[in-house]
Amino acid sequence: MHDSRETSACHAFVVGYPIKHSRSPLIHGHWLERAGLAGSYTRQAVAPEDFAGFISRLKSGESGFVGGNVTIPHKEAAFTLADRPDDLSAELGAANTLWLEEGRLHATNTDGYGFLANLDAAAPGWNRTDRAVILGAGGASRAIIQAVRDRGVGEIHVVNRTASRAQELADRFGPKVHAHPMEALGEATKGAGLFVNTTSLGMDGAPAPAIDFSPLAGGAVVTDIVYVPLVTPILRQAIDQGFATVDGLGMLLHQAVPGFEKWFGVRPHVDAALRDIILADM
Ligand code: ATR
Repeated sequence: MHDSRETSACHAFVVGYPIKHSRSPLIHGHWLERAGLAGSYTRQAVAPEDFAGFISRLKSGESGFVGGNVTIPHKEAAFTLADRPDDLSAELGAANTLWLEEGRLHATNTDGYGFLANLDAAAPGWNRTDRAVILGAGGASRAIIQAVRDRGVGEIHVVNRTASRAQELADRFGPKVHAHPMEALGEATKGAGLFVNTTSLGMDGAPAPAIDFSPLAGGAVVTDIVYVPLVTPILRQAIDQGFATVDGLGMLLHQAVPGFEKWFGVRPHVDAALRDIILADM
């Protein structure tokens, strides 16, 4: 973190390739303005072959950044190149938030935090269930499995088109996590109090399969990490079948909170004004 942030502006980034579509600058720009800070948060397009150089200029102080966010395809490299990755990022092998502290590059992964903070805000009490179903077995799924497990949910059922990827996660996370092929979705869903879509099914007009949510427990919550459109085809089906839903926009907003606090020294708020700013950009 910048030692003299009260007297000089701090600068942070979001690095990816491509990076044009990242909405993170809108989020951090809003918070900087709200806090009356003169800092900046900018997109950095860095190709994979240039990423190690980008990190080395960050560590040396040459780039002038206090830290930043990391997105596709650099999350694994960010974890590997950090001096002080925390336990969360180490378990995932991927980091999305970096910051300098006493000359060392620290790394964490805030996707799980964002997921939980969104659910806590929109569906308090969701974690009274002892069973969750997670559709998908990619990077986002991993962070969400970790978060749900750490909240004490006893059984986590991962359902994926490629069953071997779900099995890899079950092997990695241990006995609480069970793997299923897509055909077993109905069985996996039985009695669960939380259903999470972590795949791109239904994103941006892409089709989503018909899902029968009726095996879920009464009062179950259905959530989707896709937020374009805000009410995804999966959420629409859950609403039509009488279940409570939580959209994925809040996860995007909440996952940004820890980074802003590290770089700029102020804990920002996720509020309706911020949601409206992102929605206006969609
Ligand atoms: P991310 O890091 O964003 O989670 P990813 O690692 O590419 O992205 O994972 C995408 C997930 O969406 C995977 O679970 C993928 O299923 P496979 O492992 O079988 O590829 C899932 N997915 C993407 N498109 C899908 C589709 N059309 N039908 C079913 N699952 C799909």
